[in-house]
Amino acid sequence: MKISILTLFPNMFDGVFTESIIKRAIESKKIEIELINFRDYTLDPHKKVDDSPFGGGAGMVLMCQPIFDAVEDIRTPESKVILLTPAGKVYNQKMAYDLRNEKHLIIICGHYEGFDDRIRTIVDLELSIGDYVLTGGEVPAMVLVDSITRLIPGVIREESYTEDSFTSNVLDYPVYTHPRNFRGIEVPEILLSGDHKKIEEYRREEAKKRTKEVRPDLLK
Ligand code: ADE
Repeated sequence: MKISILTLFPNMFDGVFTESIIKRAIESKKIEIELINFRDYTLDPHKKVDDSPFGGGAGMVLMCQPIFDAVEDIRTPESKVILLTPAGKVYNQKMAYDLRNEKHLIIICGHYEGFDDRIRTIVDLELSIGDYVLTGGEVPAMVLVDSITRLIPGVIREESYTEDSFTSNVLDYPVYTHPRNFRGIEVPEILLSGDHKKIEEYRREEAKKRTKEVRPDLLK
């Protein structure tokens, strides 16, 4: 999969894409990431990409021209164009599974107060990563890339994500490692029993209990 990220701040992605699992996914060519500064596409002599809103109001608005030109330059019939905005559909694990099958994602990171609404006419999907407002779409783009990349076959072991929280609408069951007793807190006896059927049952129950407590909305 190729992922093209349109941003005014490509340096923000340093680190996130040069460490750990994403780094390995890039090195093993499971994904290719292209960072494009859409300021490079502006036709404005002062390299301007934003302007004040018609009708007045606070802040600056991203203009159509640089983003239209950038998307038209890189888009192919196989591209899916995603706009990141707090006004989009709320992103979830099911969407990550759907998006992992795409050949080419173009992710547009908004910034400042917003973007000219006509930009919405060239996108396939508007996504928000949650009900809060960030300074721009860069962190949400990292969230998308990370959550999709780990689901691409061969990036991590399949068992590592088939039992994830949200995949089956329950949160993860609790896990423990050595030592058996840490500051008086014991590892549940059943996990030391070697009885795999009982352990599986215990984990299922614990996951359900935890979900009911913390995220009852998932069980509906
Ligand atoms: N840009 C600013 N806030 C955002 C959010 N919550 N999701 C996606 N893009 C955003």
